[in-house]
Parts: sequence; C-alpha cells; structure tokens
Amino acid sequence: MRKKIVAGNWKMNNDLIESQSLITEVRGIIRDELRLDNVDVILFPTYFALPSCIRLLEGTGVYSGAQNCHQEKSGAFTGEVSASMVKALGASHVIIGHSERRQYFGENNIICNAKIKAGLEQELTILYCIGETLEERESNTHLDILKSQLIEGLNEINAQQLNNLVIAYEPVWAIGTGKTASAQQAQEIHAFLRKEITTKYGEAVAQRLRILYGGSVKPDNAKELFSQVDIDGGLIGGASLKARDFAEIVRAAQ
Ligand code: 13P
Repeated sequence: MRKKIVAGNWKMNNDLIESQSLITEVRGIIRDELRLDNVDVILFPTYFALPSCIRLLEGTGVYSGAQNCHQEKSGAFTGEVSASMVKALGASHVIIGHSERRQYFGENNIICNAKIKAGLEQELTILYCIGETLEERESNTHLDILKSQLIEGLNEINAQQLNNLVIAYEPVWAIGTGKTASAQQAQEIHAFLRKEITTKYGEAVAQRLRILYGGSVKPDNAKELFSQVDIDGGLIGGASLKARDFAEIVRAAQ
C-alpha cells in the first residue's frame, strides 16, 4: 500500500507576505480538519519563502521543498541555488525537471539526471517530473518521449536511491489549461511508467515507487484521479494557491 502524496507547486507566485499568509491558512485547515496519517503533504513555495515555510510548518508533519536546484554544490552560477543550500535550510524535497524548466530554461534529461544525483546526494527526496507535449501526444510519440525522460533521467540511479524519489507525470497540455487528462488516460500512462520501472528495477521497487499526476487537478476531479490503481496522488499548481481548494484535494487523497 503506497502512501499518497499531495504537493503544492506554487511556481512564481506569492511574495513573502502572501506566502506566509497562505502557509498559515493551509496549516490551520490541516491542523483542524485533516489527518496526515495516510497522505504526505508538501508545499513548494519560491526559494525566498522557503525558510518561512519550513519555520511555519515545523511540528505539523507537512513537508517543505524547493521547486528546482542547481546540480553543482557552489560556484559561479549567477541566480542559481544548489541542492546543498536547499538541504541546509532544512527542506526535505526538491522538484526536478518540471516541464516549465524544460521548456523555458533548456533543461533536458541529462541536466535533470545531474540535478537528481545532486539532490539525492544531499538526502533530499526528489519529485522528478516528466510529461509529453500536445504535439508529441498527437503524433503518437508520447510513450517514447516519456520512456526516454524516465530512463535518461534515472541513469545511474540505483534501486536503493529510488526509495527517495517520486515520479510526477504532468502532461504539458494539461498544465494550467483546465484540460485534465481523464482518469483513464492518466491511469494508462501511470501503468506504462510502472511497467518501465519494473523492467529496469524489478517488481518490488516498482510497486513501492509513488507516481503522481499533475495538470489541472482541482477539488472536483481529484478523487477520481486518485482512485486509479497506479495514481498515488497529485502535484498541484493553480489550485494549490487557494488554501481551501488545496485542502479539498488533500481530503480527496485520504
Ligand atoms: P496546474 O495544476 O496549474 O495545471 O499545474 C500543474 C503543475 O504544473 C504542477 O507542477
């Protein structure tokens, strides 16, 4: 039985004051209304709100993570933040390979692989994102694309390390568009990904690995998505910016 995960990726939204107030609101609802014994909840605010997030969530059982990290430990990389810096703050998770990083910042599977290794070395738990574009789906190349994102991203990552890694399947055409993959479409891909993991790492590892769905998850579609056998929760964008909606999605995972 895999424990579900509901994670909020705030992307480049909320200044420090807004972040603190949203974290406080989410914290209040979780404390008063939700249980965390069967779902892991993680918030991914911007880097500069991360220290506040960690402080405000202390003792609540809710995790905090960074939306990205650089693969090198330190050096002349203006504007970047390393995995060791994220770890030193006290964060537990990091998102790697989000489609917006791939699309706007030129990150490919090789870079993602280096970042995954850097994050694992710091004992961060990785949320590794993969997903096909609309063109790739329409030209029916999506399974090949997903397979290469998976296999190249996980190059030289062993079964033991996979215990600290979660896959997030986020079809690019479903992100921020209001067009969710249907529960069946998502389940089909999750089953495919688990099969690929089985081939590479064996059945036991594949059955342990959590695979999240992301892309226009809302309170009204979360339950159906999360009830699919291979969908182990969600990575939530827009709806994670509203405390009540996010809490309802957490509830749907319980
Ligand atoms: P939306 O939920 O806004 O579609 O974003 C999904 C996402 O990209 C989460 O990482």
